[in-house]
Amino acid sequence: MANSSLLSTATRRLQGKVALITGGASGIGECTAKLFSQHGAKLVIADIQDELGHSVVKSIDPSNSTYIHCDVTNEDHIKNAVDTAVSTYGKLDIMFNNAGVIDPPKPRIMDNERTDFDRVLNVNVTGVFLGMKHAARVMVPTRSGNIITTASTASGIGGVGSHAYTTSKHAVVGLTKSLAVELGQFGIRVNCLSPHGLATPLSKGRAELDDEGVENIMNSMANLKGITLKANDIANAALFLASDEARYVSGQNLFLDAIALRQNSKIKQGTNIIEIFMKENFESMKERHKGIEDYLLEYMKITKKACKESQLLQDAKLRGWENNSR
Ligand SMILES: NC(=O)c1ccc[n+]([C@@H]2O[C@H](COP(=O)([O-])OP(=O)(O)OC[C@H]3O[C@@H](n4cnc5c(N)ncnc54)[C@H](O)[C@@H]3O)[C@@H](O)[C@H]2O)c1
Repeated sequence: MANSSLLSTATRRLQGKVALITGGASGIGECTAKLFSQHGAKLVIADIQDELGHSVVKSIDPSNSTYIHCDVTNEDHIKNAVDTAVSTYGKLDIMFNNAGVIDPPKPRIMDNERTDFDRVLNVNVTGVFLGMKHAARVMVPTRSGNIITTASTASGIGGVGSHAYTTSKHAVVGLTKSLAVELGQFGIRVNCLSPHGLATPLSKGRAELDDEGVENIMNSMANLKGITLKANDIANAALFLASDEARYVSGQNLFLDAIALRQNSKIKQGTNIIEIFMKENFESMKERHKGIEDYLLEYMKITKKACKESQLLQDAKLRGWENNSR
């Protein structure tokens, strides 16, 4: 159990606060729930993965945390989650709109399906809008509160996520800025966080890689070397935004990318992140290997797990690398 008594009262930065975390059953949300709890917050964890959500509550502090089934695309569910925070703990201080999904990477728009686009926008944008709306409903009367949303580096540039994902994360920044203007008069701060890629079920599922595989790819993109982004880094940034240390910070999109992506000119050209990784390593690898098949084998060794061979090969063919002419 992540015990808040491990930190002295003076160092608990969310003592007495009540936080609701969507997508709190896994990855960044789970890690943030644990950190917020250590800092004295009471928590409502909202997710659709009930078993995981209950186990997160168990692992932190069941006397000061609650799990609630909540599909963020369903307004009744969001309303219920917010009302549960108020009825159980008396108020809502921090709303962390963190739930998110990603669609299969299909670089060509012609290959993209409307159903995938709608699904991503529904969870990543409508879900955030509903979270903001119902958080504001209970925060405005108290003239205090703090709304944080997990965006992504895909909120600032193209080419690091699918079209739908990139659209959704740009939209979240717009919502953040718009709402920060409206709610400032009530003393409510509204911000978002934009992490670079890190190993969580979301990113691992997309690429069919293990932790090391995802981290290898992400580290190859980064300007800042020797550090691997972890969920705890995002949780710490959320803690900062949620705490009084950030009391004059509102309407901001805090990038956790160590300027990795926004300063990477190759990525600015709008290429796919896997493509970048392959390109970055292609020149050195082609010296050592005859053809793309060998290159793919090398790539798979690096990730230490068989990846989607056919998909990578397809990607490579699409980019004209299969004849090793570059
Ligand atoms: N992992 C990364 O590389 C990365 C990078 C930048 C931003 N993000 C963002 O971070 C956030 C958290 O993702 P994560 O990486 O921790 O992944 P994750 O899959 O571990 O966590 C996402 C959580 O959201 C929940 N969720 C999905 N749809 C939901 C819905 N309709 N209603 C309620 N909950 C729902 C999932 O059940 C899961 O528990 C997402 O918004 C994601 O876009 C992730």
